[in-house]
Amino acid sequence: MTTVPNAHVTGWGRYAPEKRLTNHDLERLVDTSDEWIVSRTGIRERRVAAAHETTASMAAVASMRAIRTAGIDPDEIDLILLATLTPDYWMPSTAALVKEAIGNTRAAAMDVSAACSGFVYAFSTAHAYISAGIARHVLVIGAELLTRFLDYSDRNTCILFGDGAGAVVLSASDEPGGGLGIELTTEPQGAYMIWLPAGGAKSPPSAETIARGEHYIRMEGKETYRFATRTLASTALESIRKSGLEPGDIDLFIPHQANIRIIEAVAKGLDLPMDRMFVNLDRYGNTSAASVPIALAEAVNEGRVKVGDNIVLVAFGAGFTSGAVTIQWTADPARGIAGDAAVEPSDIAIRLPVDWDSVDPIPPALAEVMTRRAVNVPLDDVVPGEPDQVSKEIHA
Ligand code: ACO
Repeated sequence: MTTVPNAHVTGWGRYAPEKRLTNHDLERLVDTSDEWIVSRTGIRERRVAAAHETTASMAAVASMRAIRTAGIDPDEIDLILLATLTPDYWMPSTAALVKEAIGNTRAAAMDVSAACSGFVYAFSTAHAYISAGIARHVLVIGAELLTRFLDYSDRNTCILFGDGAGAVVLSASDEPGGGLGIELTTEPQGAYMIWLPAGGAKSPPSAETIARGEHYIRMEGKETYRFATRTLASTALESIRKSGLEPGDIDLFIPHQANIRIIEAVAKGLDLPMDRMFVNLDRYGNTSAASVPIALAEAVNEGRVKVGDNIVLVAFGAGFTSGAVTIQWTADPARGIAGDAAVEPSDIAIRLPVDWDSVDPIPPALAEVMTRRAVNVPLDDVVPGEPDQVSKEIHA
């Protein structure tokens, strides 16, 4: 009798750009306040990719960290799945660029489109490839560069999102554990609740679509919130049930990091305390498909996950989509910190076209607020008669 291989997480890694955009920075762009953003969302700051960074470059750093954590050679990867709603190009896939950057010659590579649920969707696809015996090691990535697709005059959306990438290596094993029950849902009646209207075949890019502001993310916040609170708990429950477990058997939930109030509602819905929910949205905001793998890597590296623990990754997003996977953790958590330290962003390069360069990718409003940010220079550091740090930056 042939046995179905189990799919274990053997590697995990993350990357977040250095630059931070705080709520106070946003106060200078739109009519909002730190108090409003923190009380309604829990978000305090988010990361912003630098001009030289792209979705592929962030994804490649997170991927190499996951591969080093797994202790395998990049060329052992059979399949690369990259979940994103902000690819570098319409074509080729961002996954193809990542494959080259990590030095893999063998893998099939493709992008997965399911918005903020994308990583869980990609994970479930990887799980199916491994269970079917088609792939031995699959690299699953969630990577987003959302700060280039936001309307910085729309306070409903521009305060929510940030940039980053996370990745895992899923590996076939005959040992018990790894990915257990998976639940995915798609409810197209929510299709226009979070969307990016123009740029696709329905409304190709033109001077008019740009003038109408149709290349930015639009969202009906209240409807999305309602969907999230209704669906996250039920999707997680179904995945737990398919695993033969009860909610009380779950040591840690890694929910999509959209809004602390949504996560609190999930905890309430499952009748579990908040200490079973991992939260890092205060520092990254909503990084869409990257949020679950960044949170997973942080949770493991912070010692929140032990060998034998049951954890649930659960997400919701545009579509409307939702997805959950229950995992029995089997990897030595200590490996992640060494894997992270083994890879510097400067070790990774995404090949650029030889005869083409694009415009400055940073939205002007964002560039303005990031350059002219209100730095509180300690008085001791200001030499009388010398320009302070802020005016030095402005006049640089
Ligand atoms: N600062 C100050 N006031 C604001 C802001 C802001 N940034 N944004 C909205 N407001 C105002 C509104 O205009 C409204 O004012 P009004 O009553 O005068 O019209 C008031 O605050 C209340 O607005 P609500 O929309 O009721 O605020 P709510 O408590 O619902 O919070 C939020 C809004 C944070 C967007 C919430 O609805 C939410 O988190 N929704 C889910 C969003 C989400 O998770 N999206 C990601 C989807 S994942 C993906 O696939 C991309």
